[in-house]
Amino acid sequence: MEKYESVLKRLEKTAKQYTNIAPENGQFLSILIQSIKAQNVLEVGTSNGYSTIWLAAALKETGGKLITLEFDPKRAEEAQAHLREVGCDNIVEVRVGDALDEIPKCDATFDLVFLDAEKDEYRRYLELALPNIRSGGLIVADDTVTMRDEMPDYVEFVFNTPMLHSVDIPLDDGVILSYKVGA
Ligand SMILES: C[S@@+](CC[C@H](N)C(=O)[O-])C[C@H]1O[C@@H](n2cnc3c(N)ncnc32)[C@H](O)[C@@H]1O
Repeated sequence: MEKYESVLKRLEKTAKQYTNIAPENGQFLSILIQSIKAQNVLEVGTSNGYSTIWLAAALKETGGKLITLEFDPKRAEEAQAHLREVGCDNIVEVRVGDALDEIPKCDATFDLVFLDAEKDEYRRYLELALPNIRSGGLIVADDTVTMRDEMPDYVEFVFNTPMLHSVDIPLDDGVILSYKVGA
């Protein structure tokens, strides 16, 4: 755990520049992953890999794997280097490309999906990922308080689709946690 902590602490110094999640949101994701013993997780929006390290550290505990999507090759490279530094590069696949193209190419069944890229694309990311999220799977969307006006279609969708049970959680910039109910 020490190696994660020192790298996370270092990256927190540039959190604004890389628009990283807050540490408490990282802890929240980590608790969810470990609670549901997630085996397959998808992250949309890697940046320099800060949140990716939180996800990967939790997946080390569950024996799971992560696919993370980033369209900026420079950021993806930085994330890859940070993942190597914490010894998680073997369980994380950093895919460089537009999430709208990459999500449909994912053939894993996801236990949890974390959305943190373009806010006005959240609904499209979710609609593309939804067939590959298992019943009982979770979706976490970030920035849902501070950037809510950029995602009205997402908010409408997650609170009005019978397949999803959703709740607003005012954690740092806000998250919406959604649960995909059984078929
Ligand atoms: C808010 S940052 C992600 C922060 C990261 N989750 C963290 O907390 O460390 C959003 C990232 O999504 C990337 N991005 C935006 N739109 C994207 C898209 N359509 N496909 C892939 N990546 C995208 C941006 O380049 C940026 O690095």
